Amino acid sequence: MRIGVLTGGGDCPGLNAVIRAVTRTAISNGDTVFGFNDGFKGLIENRYISLNHDSVSGILIRGGTILGTTNRDNPMRYEQIINGQKIYSDMSGIIKENYQALGLDTLVVIGGDGTMRMANEIAEKTGIKIVGVPKTIDNDIVGTDLTFGFSSAVDIATDALDRLHSTAESHHRVMILEVMGRDAGWIALHAGIAGGADIILIPEISYTIEGILNTITNRIERGKHFSLIIVAEGVKTLEGESIYKDIIKSDIDLVKLGGISNWLVRAIENASSIECRATILGHLQRGGSPNSFDRVYCTQLGAKAVELIYQGKFQEMVALVNNNITSVPLSIVKGIKLVDPKGPLVSTAKQIGISFGE
Ligand code: F6P
Repeated sequence: MRIGVLTGGGDCPGLNAVIRAVTRTAISNGDTVFGFNDGFKGLIENRYISLNHDSVSGILIRGGTILGTTNRDNPMRYEQIINGQKIYSDMSGIIKENYQALGLDTLVVIGGDGTMRMANEIAEKTGIKIVGVPKTIDNDIVGTDLTFGFSSAVDIATDALDRLHSTAESHHRVMILEVMGRDAGWIALHAGIAGGADIILIPEISYTIEGILNTITNRIERGKHFSLIIVAEGVKTLEGESIYKDIIKSDIDLVKLGGISNWLVRAIENASSIECRATILGHLQRGGSPNSFDRVYCTQLGAKAVELIYQGKFQEMVALVNNNITSVPLSIVKGIKLVDPKGPLVSTAKQIGISFGE
């Protein structure tokens, strides 16, 4: 068989580990693998490399993706500048032509929710046989209990909380760590519990400044003159506004979230005499090596993707469901998977006294 692979959307730790697992599994069965550069863009522009033992050697531990990626292009509304004018075209026909010209039998698409939806649309329009592999540090893809990259990002955020802990304690301050996750609070919830945060603020649970101050004051009364808050970037202000650094004007406006921690510092300092500092962790959460959990998980997902191909199961996404590595139809990847405010992990956090600022 001739198998194409691409990585789409924002990068995360573990992409190379999946590319390696797909390549090694396919090669050991006598098959040929091609990697397209920069997501669907490479398939549109016919830019690819051959993937073999040499090209995937040593990449298990490398962050990023050797193939390159983009989180800006939609192949069905593909932006081009022609005569100084922006035009948007459906490139699914070109994708099919290039796929057929290379004699491909199937395509493994490694990406986030947006990439999975695009993959499904391309599969429906062109009949190309696709297997998806869900990635994102945000862990917000519907259909799988876990996305790869999330565990590594949680480790990085936990380490940041550990470091803030000692300086918060020394200076008797409130430290606010802002983590990624877009509209979902998974990273904040998991890292908050792992790093011993006193307050976890996530988009799925409404907070008040009074609720936050009550927790901090209760701690001061117990002799704890410092507190740690972790906030997800998608948390809104009390007026219900998202704080963002920028909006990238395009076919679909892309909001670059970031800054709610600074807004909270001002709100807390205006309402009290408590000294606060904000740290925005940003893209550190996406860079660097996958942790050992993600290395194993990515290897399982990559091998499973090739297994699905051999079973003739296409237009499917590899998924973790109830601790089993299985697959679900690509077509079910709609919307995003949010934290359940009444779910078990939020309950555990509340049981041990972590506040959600309510
Ligand atoms: O979806 C992954 C993610 O890292 C989000 O958590 C974050 O909001 C966004 O991507 C950042 O995107 P960019 O790399 O375009 O700034």
